Amino acid sequence: MGKAAYTDTPRHLLCKRIPTPPYGDWNDRHYVDYDEFVATGGYVGLRKALARTPEDVIDEVKKAVVRGRGGAGFPAGVKWTFLPPVPEGKKPGEPGAERYLAVNADESEPGTFKDRLLMEFDPHQLLEGIAICCHACRLNRAYIFIRGEYHLQAERLERALAEAYEKGIFGEKGLQNYDANTGGERFRVDCYVHRGAGAYICGEETALLEAIEGKRGWPRIKPPFPAVQGLFGRPTIINNVETLCHLQLIFNEGAEAFTAQGVESSIGGPPSYGTKLMGMSGHVERPGVYEFELGIPLRKFVEDHCGGMRNGKKFKAAIPGGVSMGILGPDQYDAELDFDIGSKYGVLGLGTACPTVFDEDTDMTAVARNIARFYKHESCGQCTPCREGSGWVYQLMCRITEGDARNRDLDIALEVAESMGTMPGTTICGLADGNNFAMKTLIGKFREEFEAKLQKTFVAATVGVS
Ligand SMILES: Cc1cc2nc3c(=O)[nH]c(=O)nc-3n(C[C@H](O)[C@H](O)[C@H](O)COP(=O)(O)O)c2cc1C
Ligand code: SF4
Repeated sequence: MGKAAYTDTPRHLLCKRIPTPPYGDWNDRHYVDYDEFVATGGYVGLRKALARTPEDVIDEVKKAVVRGRGGAGFPAGVKWTFLPPVPEGKKPGEPGAERYLAVNADESEPGTFKDRLLMEFDPHQLLEGIAICCHACRLNRAYIFIRGEYHLQAERLERALAEAYEKGIFGEKGLQNYDANTGGERFRVDCYVHRGAGAYICGEETALLEAIEGKRGWPRIKPPFPAVQGLFGRPTIINNVETLCHLQLIFNEGAEAFTAQGVESSIGGPPSYGTKLMGMSGHVERPGVYEFELGIPLRKFVEDHCGGMRNGKKFKAAIPGGVSMGILGPDQYDAELDFDIGSKYGVLGLGTACPTVFDEDTDMTAVARNIARFYKHESCGQCTPCREGSGWVYQLMCRITEGDARNRDLDIALEVAESMGTMPGTTICGLADGNNFAMKTLIGKFREEFEAKLQKTFVAATVGVS
C-alpha cells in the first residue's frame, strides 16, 4: 500500500529501459526494439494476464487503483467495468460485436511532453498495455490517436507495431488465452496508428473518436458515454498512453508492486498510487521529463532534482499539469503532486503532472493573456459560452496587459470565464472549464498585479495621458 507521505524512495516503473533523471542520463536513451524489450522482461505481463480471465484481469487493475494519467485521474479498472457484455453467442469483432480501444496519444496540453518519451523510446511497453487491455475488456481493435506534430514518435510506433504483428501479438494468428473454464481460445486484436492534424480539442475523448471516424473533432454530448456507444457507435474504452503503459508492471509483478509506490490521500479521498512521468518546464535550471512516485512536493522536485530556480531567482507560481489546471501561488510551493492537489490547493486537479514554473520576474497578466489566447484559438466553437466567452476573455486580457482596461474589466473577465464550462453546466466539454480555472486562479491569486495595471489605466485616463 502507498505511504502516508512521500518518502523519496522511488523506483522507475515506466522508465526502466529509458534512462531518466534522477537515476539515468537522458543522453543514454535509444529505441528499444522487440528483442531488447523481451530480453528485459517485456511481454511477460501480457503472458501472465492471458493466463487469467478477463474479469480477473479487471479486478487486478481495480486493486491497483490505476488512476488515468491523461488528466482526469479516473480509475481505469472502474472505467472498464462500464462496458456492456459481448452479445450472447458472438465473439468480439464479429458483426454486431465490435469493441474498440482508443489510445489517447494526442498530448496537446500546453507544458505536457511525457507520453512522447514512452512512444519514442519504448513503444512496446504501450503495445503490451494495449494487448492486456484488449484481453481484459474483450476488445478486438485498438486505434492509437497520436498528435500530428509527433512525426518521429508515430514512425517509431509504426515500427514497433510491425514487429509486434510479426511476432503474433496483433493480427491474424491471434493471442491465446488460457481460460480454465473454456480451455482457452485464440482471439484476434488489430492495432492502428492514426495521426491527428494538430487540434488541441482532439485530445478530448469524444472529439478524438470523431476525429478517428474522419470527422471534424467536435466533442459529443454525453451520455451516451463511449463505453456504451463510442467509436462507430460501438462500445469503446479510451485511455491515455501512460495509463496503459503501467499495465505491464501490474501483471508482471502484481498490483502490490504498483500500490507500494505513491501515497494515500491525506484528505480521505482515493489514493494516488504508482509513479508518474512528470515533465518539468519553465524557469528551472534543468527542465525535462522525470519519473517520481506520486506525492512528491513541487519544491523538492525543483530544488533537489531540477537544479533549483533558474539564475537563483525566487519561485512565484506554477501550473501543476497543463494550463487547464489553473495556477499555484507563491505560498503553494510545497504542494504535493498527487491527486489531492485540486481540493487542497484550489486548482482544478493534477492534470498531466507536468509543471510549468514561473519565477519572481514573471508578469502574471502576460501569462493570463497568453493562456486566454490559447483557449480562444482552440475552442471548437460548438458552445456559445466557450466560443464567444473565450474571445471576450482574450480581448479583456489584452486590454489589461496593454494598460488599456477600465476598472470594471477585471470583474467582467472573471464573470465571463466563470460562466463557461461543464461545471457551471453551460458547455459540452471540459475545454471551457480549463479556461475558467486558469483565469479564476490567476486573477484570484494575483489580483493586486492585475489591479496595478488597472490603476495605471485609471490614472492615465484621469490625467488625460494616452
Ligand atoms: C480539452 C481536453 C483536452 C484533452 N487532451 C488530452 C490529451 O491530449 N491526452 C489525454 O490523454 N487526455 C486528454 N484529455 C482527457 C481525455 O478526455 C480523457 O479523459 C483521457 O484520455 C482518458 O484517459 P485516462 O483515463 O487514461 O486518463 C483532454 C480532455 C479535454 C477536456
Ligand atoms: S466547450 Fe468549447 S471546445 Fe468544448 S465543445 Fe464547447 S465550444 Fe467546443
